[in-house]
Amino acid sequence: MSLLWTSEALVAGMDGRPLGPMPEGISGISIDSRTLQPGDAFFAIKGETMDGHDFATAAIKAGAGVLVVAEGKLPSLGRLTAPIIVVEDVLAALEKLGAAARARSEAKIIAVTGSAGKTTTKEALRHVLSAVGKVHASAQSFNNHWGVPLTLARMPIDCDYAVFEIGMNHPDEIRPLVKMVRPHVAIVTMIAAAHLGFFRNLDEIARAKAEIFEGLEPEGAAILNRDDGRWKLLDKMAHAAGVEHVYGFGENARSTFRLVKCELHADHSDITARIGGHEVTARVGAPGRHMVQNVLAVLGAAHLVGADLDRAALALADLSAERGRGKRHVLRLPGGPITLIDESYNANPASMGAAMALLNATPVTGEGRRIAVLGDMLELGDHSAKLHAALADLIVGTGTQTVFLGGPEMRALAERLPGEIRTEYRAGVEELKPVLLAALKPGDVVMIKSSKGIGFAKLVDALLGKFPAQTTSKQT
Ligand SMILES: Nc1ncnc2c1ncn2[C@@H]1O[C@H](COP(=O)(O)OP(=O)(O)OP(=O)(O)O)[C@@H](O)[C@H]1O
Ligand SMILES: [Mg+2]
Repeated sequence: MSLLWTSEALVAGMDGRPLGPMPEGISGISIDSRTLQPGDAFFAIKGETMDGHDFATAAIKAGAGVLVVAEGKLPSLGRLTAPIIVVEDVLAALEKLGAAARARSEAKIIAVTGSAGKTTTKEALRHVLSAVGKVHASAQSFNNHWGVPLTLARMPIDCDYAVFEIGMNHPDEIRPLVKMVRPHVAIVTMIAAAHLGFFRNLDEIARAKAEIFEGLEPEGAAILNRDDGRWKLLDKMAHAAGVEHVYGFGENARSTFRLVKCELHADHSDITARIGGHEVTARVGAPGRHMVQNVLAVLGAAHLVGADLDRAALALADLSAERGRGKRHVLRLPGGPITLIDESYNANPASMGAAMALLNATPVTGEGRRIAVLGDMLELGDHSAKLHAALADLIVGTGTQTVFLGGPEMRALAERLPGEIRTEYRAGVEELKPVLLAALKPGDVVMIKSSKGIGFAKLVDALLGKFPAQTTSKQT
């Protein structure tokens, strides 16, 4: 078992009080007893609805090496049969341990924020940098007040690179997180109307993302989307925060990391880019223009942290779209296959655009149709009806003429779509499911997308459950 932390460093890192004999160390850190691995330290974090202290026994059963619990909760926990470290506040202890992990690390650190594409970019960086060194990166979208310190505390001492996703719903959330991460490179993927309900306009969203510059290491670099409407504002804010090295990525001729040539195909893209004086030609294994944009930032960051660009570029060929973020399935129907594009992880106006472009670029066969299955985009506040209705612009006049809609907000789009688009609107995912399953025909390409809270992942599961997989898109 390789140790992530010796018990001595663990206790010292978070200023805790050990109770009972400690093990030599711990192999990982968990805040969820269901996914805890034997030998992990279990941090009993108190969330909005659950309190980790209620799962102390479950964590011991799962094989926790150490439990980290709050002083105030100790009396109510009874006798526990595992070593315990007592702290005043468990989240604060995780933050301290995160800071200790950062302090002992010699890794090159990259932080990624933006309105869409954070996880996609983070995973692409993980993939590309793994070709040249040992990489640590956030799990899933662990990008908030507990996800970031958890990822930091999990950072092995010997990694060469670490990649952190940093997210926000409100102003002042990114600042404390990035100050813990202290990245050498900060990427802002793009600015769009995500969580617009909590902001007055896109400029305000950009200002909140700009907090990421405040945590950059001295001599650190910001990588910004040169094609984005908020480029100028972000560039200004980066300089105002004292960042001297600000680089743009995109198609714009003034981009430092510039797309020179781009061929988009249904299941991959071929690109040529100028990266820091090098001309890089690469195949990008996951399709879509948005992926190409993300890849420019990835190559730029890889270059800035000193990774071998040729090897990084080569690794892009076997990049693949993640579950819920463009992953493709070819499913067998009686009479022929259908293609399912799983975009069900989340949705906002920008990612709807990216996903519709993917759908429109995917060929149908025979009598097949392109079908968009769209659910509500949440957290758009007063702008919601307008932004939902505006999705019509992504559909009218494109190769997608069949649309299934679900959720209260999608009514605005249903009402906007003209008669020539076949539109099925239902109140929610349960009502939509039978209609969709019954409508599919061989040759169809179906793209499913909504905000997480609306739960269109259930439609993906229903399709995967009903129709056997033929093969994955990578093999076709
Ligand atoms: N650069 C991009 N521009 C626009 N849309 C994008 C971009 N990259 C990815 N997307 C779209 O956004 C969706 C979500 O991507 P991803 O999960 O990477 O975003 P995220 O920023 O991590 O989201 P979250 O805030 O929910 O963690 C993808 O499925 C894709 O449709
Ligand atoms: Mg994410």
